[in-house]
Amino acid sequence: MAIRFVEYDRSFILETKNSSYVIKVTKHDFLAHIYYGKKIRNYDCEESLVFPKEPPLCARITPEDEVYCLDTLPQEYPTSGRGDYRHPALVIDNTDGSRIVELKYKDFNIVKGKPTLAGLPSLYSEDENDVSTLEIRLEDALTNIEVSLFYSIFENIDAITRWSIVRNAGNETVNINCAMSFSIDFSSCDYDFMHLRGFWARERFVERFPLNKLSTQIDSTRGASGHHHNPFFAILSKNADEENGFVYGFNLVYSGNFIGRAGVDQFDNTRVSMGINPNDFSWELKTQTSFATPEAVMVFSSNGIGGMSRTFHELYSKHLIRGKFKSKERPILINNWEATYFDFNRHKIDDLTQKASNLGVELFVLDDGWFGERNTDKKSLGDWFENKEKLPGGLKSLSEDVHKKGMQFGLWFEPEMISPDSELYRKQPDWCLHVEGRSRSESRYQLVLDLSRKDVREYLINCIQEIFDNVDIDYVKWDMNRNMSEVGSKLLPASKQKEIPHRYILGLYEIMDNLTTNNPHILFESCSSGGGRFDPGMLYYMPQTWTSDNTDAVDRLKIQYGTSLVYPLSTIGSHVSAVPNHQVNRITPLEMRGHVSMSGNMGYELDVTNISNDETEQMKAQIAIYKEIRPLVQFGEFYRILSPFEGNETSWMFVSKDKTSAVVFWFRVLAQPNPPAKILKLKALNPEWDYRIIEKDKVLGGDMLMNSGLTISVEKGDFRSIMYRLVKN
Ligand code: DGJ
Repeated sequence: MAIRFVEYDRSFILETKNSSYVIKVTKHDFLAHIYYGKKIRNYDCEESLVFPKEPPLCARITPEDEVYCLDTLPQEYPTSGRGDYRHPALVIDNTDGSRIVELKYKDFNIVKGKPTLAGLPSLYSEDENDVSTLEIRLEDALTNIEVSLFYSIFENIDAITRWSIVRNAGNETVNINCAMSFSIDFSSCDYDFMHLRGFWARERFVERFPLNKLSTQIDSTRGASGHHHNPFFAILSKNADEENGFVYGFNLVYSGNFIGRAGVDQFDNTRVSMGINPNDFSWELKTQTSFATPEAVMVFSSNGIGGMSRTFHELYSKHLIRGKFKSKERPILINNWEATYFDFNRHKIDDLTQKASNLGVELFVLDDGWFGERNTDKKSLGDWFENKEKLPGGLKSLSEDVHKKGMQFGLWFEPEMISPDSELYRKQPDWCLHVEGRSRSESRYQLVLDLSRKDVREYLINCIQEIFDNVDIDYVKWDMNRNMSEVGSKLLPASKQKEIPHRYILGLYEIMDNLTTNNPHILFESCSSGGGRFDPGMLYYMPQTWTSDNTDAVDRLKIQYGTSLVYPLSTIGSHVSAVPNHQVNRITPLEMRGHVSMSGNMGYELDVTNISNDETEQMKAQIAIYKEIRPLVQFGEFYRILSPFEGNETSWMFVSKDKTSAVVFWFRVLAQPNPPAKILKLKALNPEWDYRIIEKDKVLGGDMLMNSGLTISVEKGDFRSIMYRLVKN
């Protein structure tokens, strides 16, 4: 069993294949965090739980106990007001105006399997023997606030997920001001902090720096997880690299405002926590009601950053991504956005789809501009009815035609938004987030619909479902192109206005749950001006994400490398686009653009009616090769070899689980005069086996390829890349 309660010292031992997590009920019934890390056979809590002998300025919990003080107790779910001056996990405004919550141990329960979280995305298990879940119940005897801490142990994957439920068993309404999904106190600060930082078109760049005995935080207050910080961070041993060292990775299964922090205290302990951002958040907790936090995922790796990534990939592929497309190869698509922008008509689309079908593309996606009077981004969001002037015969006839050409049909939506210049806005000016008396700030000429409102959610579900019912749609691109401002809702009282960002996300989850459940045949891809909402919450409903609006092959090396730290490669949308590239004006060879795109969920996003014969042949070949290597890329194991953040070259490889095949990609950004010989040491092959390298027509041993290496032979020049396919000989 992955969870044990040890009666004699009231400790809980949680075990995955390679990690242990230890919790203890201490003598005054507070819940202490004892250990998280590499697996230990028999844990002795007394040996670890030591209080500083003479704690200065210590607020003692009882007068008799000189050293027991919450500020030095490593805790599982700390609160404030009783002398712990570090970041609290829970803050509640009590009816008497105080903020003290004193959580003491009550009891526990262990169940097989993985409970779901009502209204929130959560990891799941198809086989209850894969996962077991511990619930530890705590209570404040004075206010009758109860907190359940949940721990789901994915025994074979080295992952533990945590979430909390706060219940008001008292007689008065209270306000939650902060409720983290988890908190852990590590008894050291000798770590680096790593996270994924970004902006529009530069998403998820890897940042790593020493903790430096300070408080470090990543967050979003934008109403979405955002481009700026991904809801992921890790703390790592100083010597951790791709293959070695300890790494603890944390990821929040949530798509809205979040916070992740690591704070070092006066005794060099590090408290890490993650959850909904307490800034601009509060939740009215009426008597006998409860509030559930989003789920957080914790991954421990003693095999460096690569080990952490592969654990996240396996966990999300098996226990987060759902439905028909979970383990189905994803279609190679062509999207008309960079090919036409808003300027298309039926003839143009017909030519594009004919050519794409000849190339071997499997899915055509009609992007923005097919509805209302949407010929620019200035109008019509919310008017989800087709523009028959642009598309005579409508979507139905277009979809039929695309299917006749042997491709699937996909459609773009941006359901969460409203253009002030739209029929919907003229009818329902109060349906957007707004604050009476304040002007409504537009971003990309649009406002955010108030998804906390049931009528708005119903409108969206009904009009999108109507299109699904009338048109044969195989794929949907679900876009969202602005962050929130003037976060107010007309239907909620003043006391609940701070609930709106979370209510919005709950409303979004409700809509996505409805549409994805009722249309299981549709493959959904989420998008938010590229990768502005690339998070596990969205992946629960939509198994792939448009990674970035930046399609430049060089920039994509960093974007996809960073994204791969956490998210499976099957989720990473990557398209070949035209040169000069529309975002950065760079000209890269089609070969490199193809190799970058093949390293994720491949697609094309350019006017293929306007390419040379040579490019046509190259694309045909790329598509044919991708179809062959697709199972490896989308469902194999991923190993990073050279980082684009550390030099001019990037390399990564995909290895099948049984190690019988692999594909290696190598990229060089700028040419180097008189370069040294390029030898690449491969990873994760079977050292006992020989492998045929198809592109070299040569057989080499797995041990040789990993220890001595593979010689890279490329021509001179900037923006070079090469792919080698390996099969067991
Ligand atoms: C932003 C997306 O990221 C693009 O791919 C495209 O769909 C545009 N929106 C359309 O407006």
